[in-house]
Amino acid sequence: MIAPARGNPLPEWSTLTFAFTETDYIVRAEGDASREPVWETGRIEPYGPISLSPAAAVLSYGVGIFEGLKAFRREDGHVQLFRPDANAARFQRSAERLSMAPFPVDLFLSAVDQLVDANRRFVPPPGRGSFYVRPMQHAVEARLGFGACHELAVTMYGSPVGAVGAKSEAIRLQAVERARVAPGGTGAAKAMGNYAGSVHVAGPAREQGFDDVLYLDARTLTNVTETSGANFFVVNRAGQLITPPLDDQILAGVTRDSVLTIARDELRLDVQERPISIDEVLAEAGEAFCTGTAWTLKSVDEIAFRDRSVRFPGREVRDRLWEIISGTQTGRRVDTRGWTRLVPEGASRR
Ligand code: COI
Repeated sequence: MIAPARGNPLPEWSTLTFAFTETDYIVRAEGDASREPVWETGRIEPYGPISLSPAAAVLSYGVGIFEGLKAFRREDGHVQLFRPDANAARFQRSAERLSMAPFPVDLFLSAVDQLVDANRRFVPPPGRGSFYVRPMQHAVEARLGFGACHELAVTMYGSPVGAVGAKSEAIRLQAVERARVAPGGTGAAKAMGNYAGSVHVAGPAREQGFDDVLYLDARTLTNVTETSGANFFVVNRAGQLITPPLDDQILAGVTRDSVLTIARDELRLDVQERPISIDEVLAEAGEAFCTGTAWTLKSVDEIAFRDRSVRFPGREVRDRLWEIISGTQTGRRVDTRGWTRLVPEGASRR
């Protein structure tokens, strides 16, 4: 039996953005790496503040990771998740990179089911958006000195967020001679600190009217990597779809992987995961777009770099990919890849 929540108001569905809306419930689970099993199963709690020791390692040392995934309401009323197993696997890889005990995949999936089911009334109607799930794992151990932590917690909350239209609202990027993450660092993990440092870089670009920055790789400051929170793709004049290969500076995006899979198997494009320099992007690309769970697929209209600015008029590849991905996510298209998972009715009461 879950404790009754306050009953927060529903948002206005027609004006949803990526802004946060307080919902009714969160899910929490504690872990202790010095016992077996390490992790307890998640439990539903009313939405509200969580308490932490002021000495919790996450607060001083940033020992924390997070995920982002989405649930969609289908026309038949059922609610489905998009590729939650991929997020569960990445949550484990990120935890291991930060020397935390990984949260088991089955516990991750049942916690997401519980969270979405308990907050089902906050899942937007079909076509109006999605319910964004934010799982986090933190080292909550009180530690003055720095080292591996045993006492851990997983917390998940969610928020209804807006839909992106069939036509991409194209964005403007400023390529910067800066790296998002350090070579050999935590760039392949979804670690808190990777995001904290980017505000300082993206802020000035946003003040100049750009939507975000495009980082170069830390070793050479030549090849493009990612924006602050999305992977980057181009289509060159020969029709090749190119994205930087996974390495220590690239996050293995779930949307990135979905794009690559569909581009290869269904659109039969010539797909290349290879380093691509900013000079090649500016000289050869006819189309550019960013991918991420939050960003979805966003066409890039313009990239400014040093004293140059180049426009990218192409939209075709992005639009074809988005039609397939968004159709699968929302249940408009048959899911031939086993990427969706229904949230069982009553999952939060089991
Ligand atoms: C996501 O795309 O889900 C992310 O976590 C990126 C974040 C910058 C919103």
